[in-house]
Amino acid sequence: MAPKGVVSKKPQGQAYKDKSKPADVRASNINAAKAVSDAIRTSLGPRGMDKMVSNTIIYIQNLCVTKRESFLRQIQSGNGEVTITNDGATILKQMNVLHPAAKMLVELSRAQDVEAGDGTTSVVVVAGALLDAAERLLHIGIHPTAISDSFQRCSTKAVQILTEMSRPIELSDREILIKSASTSLNSKVVSQQSSTLAPLAVDAVLKVTEAGQEDRVDLKNIKVIRSLGGTIEDTELVDGLVFTQRSAGTNGPKRLEKAKIGLIQFCISPPKTDMDHSVVVSDYAAMDRVLKEERAYILNIVKQIKKAGCNVLLVQKSILRDAVSDLALHFLDKIKVMVIKDVEREDIEFVCKSLSCRPIASLDHFVAESLVNADLVEEVASGSNKFVKITGIQNQGQTVSIVVRGSNKLVLEEADRSIHDALCVVRCLVKNRALIAGGGAPEIEMALQLAAHSNTLDGVDAYCFRAFAEAMEVIPSTLAENAGLNPIATVTELRNRHAQGEKNAGINVRKGAITDILAENVVQPLLVSTSAITLATETIRSILKIDDIVNTVT
Ligand SMILES: Nc1ncnc2c1ncn2[C@@H]1O[C@H](COP(=O)(O)OP(=O)(O)OP(=O)(O)O)[C@@H](O)[C@H]1O
Ligand SMILES: [Mg+2]
Repeated sequence: MAPKGVVSKKPQGQAYKDKSKPADVRASNINAAKAVSDAIRTSLGPRGMDKMVSNTIIYIQNLCVTKRESFLRQIQSGNGEVTITNDGATILKQMNVLHPAAKMLVELSRAQDVEAGDGTTSVVVVAGALLDAAERLLHIGIHPTAISDSFQRCSTKAVQILTEMSRPIELSDREILIKSASTSLNSKVVSQQSSTLAPLAVDAVLKVTEAGQEDRVDLKNIKVIRSLGGTIEDTELVDGLVFTQRSAGTNGPKRLEKAKIGLIQFCISPPKTDMDHSVVVSDYAAMDRVLKEERAYILNIVKQIKKAGCNVLLVQKSILRDAVSDLALHFLDKIKVMVIKDVEREDIEFVCKSLSCRPIASLDHFVAESLVNADLVEEVASGSNKFVKITGIQNQGQTVSIVVRGSNKLVLEEADRSIHDALCVVRCLVKNRALIAGGGAPEIEMALQLAAHSNTLDGVDAYCFRAFAEAMEVIPSTLAENAGLNPIATVTELRNRHAQGEKNAGINVRKGAITDILAENVVQPLLVSTSAITLATETIRSILKIDDIVNTVT
């Protein structure tokens, strides 16, 4: 029994509040996630629009950077740094998103970036449309769990439709690989240079693909180096190794044929003690002795290097002391050894793989057998920078380097990101050798077939399949909208053409009409589209299943 004076009755309206809470939480999650999707929608496709996003204020401003109609997004992050990009994952990563459900869409975009590398905008746009569909289904009284389960079946069916639509390709067909890499570059700032960059991306991925291990293409074996100066057309693929730093010596050789390369992890400088201490030398004789010792110590190392026949020395960066002292450099210059110092620790693995060697950890192991032969090592100038190139490596590992050139930092960074997308597209094709048309064709085909399938179903599934099918139309409708076409008229015509059996009819943004998009060479890997559908559905299902937000006290 309740003690006297304590009101045992529940406050009025408590029961009503309890019931509405899950719905409120769900609605708030859906709205927040949809806002993220809306923010990014305008950047989809080759004619995406722009925004300038800052940490606290969002300015909406159209900014035409290149002469053609392509628009870019300019993002100003909290620390005042500006990024120009069209890449969905990059835009979202830099946006200051606070709502937990909205963050799920940011994660979704990142997941697509890891899985496929391209389609990071599409995946978020599709997720937004699916959330819209789910909201409508919730309004008509369908239980969230039922929607979630049904959407899973829709996604499986959608992937099946896409797979049926796809065309198998051969890796030997270089042309088709280049076409798909170009499609991914179409929507980027560097689209005009796609004829330079696409073949480069294809060659790079094919170079690092080991026969029989196609499903394990590792893009870490392709090193992309940014070098300020020149134009994007000067971007080159180096079948060898490139170091961003110049050679360390002043009078040392700058070009060496028949090089013998040694990669060392020990320092060529006077050793230091572990503890912080100082030695006071008060007379000249003692000072002389110290200098002599140092000289003898370094000379001993340099002699051993000479004895082994090394003429190019790669030195790992040291955090404790100078990896190569000035005195050592002086001696190495004299014996005509090119020194490349400060090779980063994280780069050592790549260098070893390229040169097919192991790093030399101590002087005792510095022998002729540990050295690597290469035809040419030279220092080349690029704009105001200089870098070192090693080519003709004997027993070269399956690695390759791309030197990206650009006239300014913003373009250079975006070129790097775009090349990454193109590399990912080719990797997708190597992993899963199937292509589909682009330009909204697969999405309309999915919408039509899913809608037709929904007529054969009954109950909740029929509603959910229909809603899912409608949501798929968001891609062609957005592509049309961004290209300045009438989205409703375009989508209707697309539907008609597909209903008449033209499976590859898509939006030709250049001509502003609907044509056979395969003839326009707009093709994309099947994996990009299937992973976008599965990942988006997975995220929507988890958003729908959340019915409460619990704050923890830290
Ligand atoms: N020339 C073209 N004509 C018509 N549609 C195109 C053309 N080039 C690309 N597309 C379409 O544009 C969409 C891709 O746009 P975009 O590259 O901006 O976004 P994303 O690939 O989803 O994301 P991101 O490239 O930022 O990771 C795809 O649906 C593709 O079919
Ligand atoms: Mg893309």
